[in-house]
Amino acid sequence: MEQFNTNLHKEVKSNDGTFTAFSQKYNEHYHSTKDGALNESLYKHIIPAFELSKGKSELHILDICYGLGFNTLATLYYHKQNNLDTKLFIYSPELDVQLVKNLRFFHYPQEFESLTEIIKALSTKQFYEDENFTIEVFLGDAREYVKKFENRFDIVYQDAFSPSVNPVLWTQEYFSDIKKSMKENGVLTTYSTALKTRLALYNNGFRVYLNEGENYRNATVASLAQLPLKEVDMQHKIKCNPTVEPLRD
Ligand SMILES: C[S@@+](CC[C@H](N)C(=O)[O-])C[C@H]1O[C@@H](n2cnc3c(N)ncnc32)[C@H](O)[C@@H]1O
Repeated sequence: MEQFNTNLHKEVKSNDGTFTAFSQKYNEHYHSTKDGALNESLYKHIIPAFELSKGKSELHILDICYGLGFNTLATLYYHKQNNLDTKLFIYSPELDVQLVKNLRFFHYPQEFESLTEIIKALSTKQFYEDENFTIEVFLGDAREYVKKFENRFDIVYQDAFSPSVNPVLWTQEYFSDIKKSMKENGVLTTYSTALKTRLALYNNGFRVYLNEGENYRNATVASLAQLPLKEVDMQHKIKCNPTVEPLRD
């Protein structure tokens, strides 16, 4: 029988009852097992991003990186649950071809049941389109991919493996390319609260905000614009940690 698990990726149940996976290559889970895979995706990325992007008829979303596809799929789930009529354009790079091809065998949460056809299309053809959604999974390097876009994205889900194991997707230069790809009022969400990450964003002119709530550990929202969230006082943080440096290429 065909199955998701290989010697590089293994399914693991997380605390909200949904499955994530463990990556042998990066020695990390794809999601926080404590916060739960679906829970983390919804509370750290989708809900804050959509709350802050109300009133737009189209949303262009960069999902870094596709992985198990939770952020893309939870976006579609949220859109359906809330009967939104916003047109969504989702772009998601992913380096791991074998992972993407095996996703049609992954045990997704029952919340994604109505997305089975989309999951299959993205796993086999890396493309899906209907009247509401256009989704492209790009098999290749996110660093190259993001350079193709200018002033495009309303939302960026920054959900790479941690800065310690995948530093190239957290550097100041990387966030400079991300900034160019975003609209002036775009919103970036990430689980990382590391000062190095926040500094790499701040040094590019992003304002840094705290994403906090009851169901999950603190996370970060960043934007070039002023947002109705608690802003992190970066000058104070730098003063308290004078030796801190952002990651660099
Ligand atoms: C933490 S996982 C993403 C989890 C995903 N957002 C989800 O909801 O399932 C990080 C992903 O980044 C991919 N990756 C690492 N470096 C990359 C790169 N330079 N370009 C594209 N993808 C990369 C890994 O293969 C992995 O699938």
